[in-house]
Amino acid sequence: MKNDGGYQAIEIADGVFWVGAIDWELRNFHGYLTTHGSTYNAYLIIDEKVTLVDVVKRPFVDELMARISSVIDPSKIDVIISNHAEMDHSGCLPEVIQRTAPSTVYASKQGVKALDAQFHLSEEITIAEDGATLDLGKRTVTFLETRMCHWPDSMVSYLTPEKILFSQDAFGMHLATSKLFADENEQWQMDHELDKYYANILLPLSNFVRKTLDRIGELKLEFSMIAPDHGPIWRRDEDIQRIVGLYHRWSSQQRLAKAVLVYDTMWNSTPVMAGAIADGIKDEGCAVEQMPLAASHRSDIATAILDAGALVVGTPTMNGEMFPSVAGVLTYLKGLRPAGMIGAAFGSHGWSGEGAKKVAAWLTEMNVEQISEPLGIKYVPDEAALGECRRLGQLIGRTMTERFTPAD
Ligand code: FEO
Repeated sequence: MKNDGGYQAIEIADGVFWVGAIDWELRNFHGYLTTHGSTYNAYLIIDEKVTLVDVVKRPFVDELMARISSVIDPSKIDVIISNHAEMDHSGCLPEVIQRTAPSTVYASKQGVKALDAQFHLSEEITIAEDGATLDLGKRTVTFLETRMCHWPDSMVSYLTPEKILFSQDAFGMHLATSKLFADENEQWQMDHELDKYYANILLPLSNFVRKTLDRIGELKLEFSMIAPDHGPIWRRDEDIQRIVGLYHRWSSQQRLAKAVLVYDTMWNSTPVMAGAIADGIKDEGCAVEQMPLAASHRSDIATAILDAGALVVGTPTMNGEMFPSVAGVLTYLKGLRPAGMIGAAFGSHGWSGEGAKKVAAWLTEMNVEQISEPLGIKYVPDEAALGECRRLGQLIGRTMTERFTPAD
């Protein structure tokens, strides 16, 4: 039954194998631009109880089974642990259960409900109680609920004596790579994709992330490896310390003196205003990132505001509304619940000028503290109007300098 060719498992520790799938083609994960694809990681532990931790998105079931087969006959799997019920980690679970006939499948209490709702399999799933341990033979798995990191069902599994944390979505990233360990990949790419993943997936759940980090701290868990369900595995101590530190920082929404300017346009007046506002922000020594919607994806904007102190949004007025592209990105950003930002609305209009006012109302709903009235300019900004824009930028810069840590 051993598979000698094609998809192979990769041993990450003695008797512990990565058996996941690489999705080189994925470009859209629920509206998140996954420029470099993703992976769906699953892990096989060879012990007296052969154990599979998580499965993969449904179309990748054959890849998973082939990688398992490169190590062991899949029918020898005794236990499946489902750390997270979202379909990218459970989609092929019914088929894997059918093909391997494990004696027990574990999920959290909420996971049993979610898997039942998705696959109507509740009678086949055993509740993994929070804090419970499972003896595999030479090793032990401890289950820890991590509710809302990412779904109500989310839990992690901690393997001893290896000290490997199977962390499901947490500490992951959407990146298809054949280099399985984070330290084999370019550091800048690891940093960028980790940021982007947190900003687009976990930011709205930051309170839950903080609780989980606190609990890990209280339990004094040590990790030799953090093995997420997406992207590379973390094994160097300095990387593990760094990513845990970043999760602490991001989940407490610490902000820098950096502004993100997001805008769209009909006849190029709003971008000219944005340029003058950006100059004003720079006058005060603050960082600024201009993200015109014609060239910026919403998930990259979300990444930019992860640690930004100010969100400044510009729109023309069209038919008495803000531009649809601006409404779209604001809807996305509102759902991510950034906290503690200042901001302002601006825009050019012809006669009625509702656009910037509606942006201002939306920023208020997002709890972005606006430090000025919306700045509306008629038609094309003249020198006086550009002066107003520059002064708005300077006010934003001064306010950020008073409140936030300088950006690098
Ligand atoms: Fe990667 Fe919440 O699933």
